[in-house]
Amino acid sequence: MYSKTILSFLIVCFLSDCTYGQRDKKFFRKDYTYLEGSESFYKVHTLHKTWTEAKKTCKMEGATLYYPENELEANTVLSFWNSTQPFLYIYIGISDLVAKGVFETVDGLPISDVYNKWGPGEPNDAGGTEDCVVLTKDSGHLNDDSCYKKFPFICKKTLVSLEWNEQCNMPNKNYIFNQQLGRCYQLHTKPLNWTDAHAACHAEQGYLAVINSQEEADYLVQLTQTPVKKVSGNFMRGAVHLGFHNRGDDGWQTVRGSALEDSGYTFWGNNQPDGDDKEKCGSMFYNGHLNDISCSTRCFYICEHEVDTLSNSFDDRFGSLIVH
Ligand SMILES: *[C@@H]1O[C@H](CO)[C@@H](O)[C@H](O)[C@H]1NC(C)=O
Ligand SMILES: *[C@@H]1O[C@H](CO)[C@@H](O)[C@H](O)[C@H]1NC(C)=O
Repeated sequence: MYSKTILSFLIVCFLSDCTYGQRDKKFFRKDYTYLEGSESFYKVHTLHKTWTEAKKTCKMEGATLYYPENELEANTVLSFWNSTQPFLYIYIGISDLVAKGVFETVDGLPISDVYNKWGPGEPNDAGGTEDCVVLTKDSGHLNDDSCYKKFPFICKKTLVSLEWNEQCNMPNKNYIFNQQLGRCYQLHTKPLNWTDAHAACHAEQGYLAVINSQEEADYLVQLTQTPVKKVSGNFMRGAVHLGFHNRGDDGWQTVRGSALEDSGYTFWGNNQPDGDDKEKCGSMFYNGHLNDISCSTRCFYICEHEVDTLSNSFDDRFGSLIVH
């Protein structure tokens, strides 16, 4: 039964993935839904956020904050939203934050080139503080509102913009496949604190890298060499964030849920860990040795992605059709 399942997946791979491109599969990520009407993928975020946070969240997922390009897309997405979630308003990717009164999309198009259906009397910049645009479900109308309120929002990825990283089996070209380790990695050189770095890796379907062997430590050291030489600023704090911490009651744990001492690599730097209660997050010095660090220190960080060829692209869409 099990081997038959594998065989079926391989046949699907052979017929669809290996012969045609990823775009023919119409798959971006498990948490996005493809809508044929507008040839794009969408995810409704139910956690309410400010406009800037919403925009950032979509970007971290490899998508953009949704706005309707035209009436057809507005109707397609409105009915999807209506059939899946109860709330009445969402932020969309249009604001006049750059210049008051100049409403433009997150990718710089004037609102007159896209869906431009304001509600009666809108935009009115009430109180002089309304710079972000909200879409109302029932009427399909736009309204300007404060950017600091928190609303749900929708992220969007167009099918034509989809680029697949074949080796890593994910829609992110920045991840580098390491053959020996069978894993993919991305070094991020925009410094973040540990908690934000953890969230950023998660958003791009990875996790803060966990070292499981000396070979992996050597590779991560190698990965950091070029950018470190280029940017020798003090904001790097001499370390990169990795996926372990001491924030619970169980001592040092990896973000994969096991004790650090069982991870296969526990080479601490000199006298580390040395921070006691002040340094409860994990990082690596540029020589590969482990270091405890404050969770609020901003550093470069490395995300890791397991290459899981039997999920991601096949299971949800083909699994139920072919596995009997
Ligand atoms: C929204 O859903 C309700 C009930 O499911 C339906 O009656 C209504 O027509 C829908 N509205 C739109 C705009 O699709
Ligand atoms: C990390 O930075 C974010 C802002 O980007 C902040 O809200 C959060 O409190 C910081 N976390 C820690 C542990 O410092």
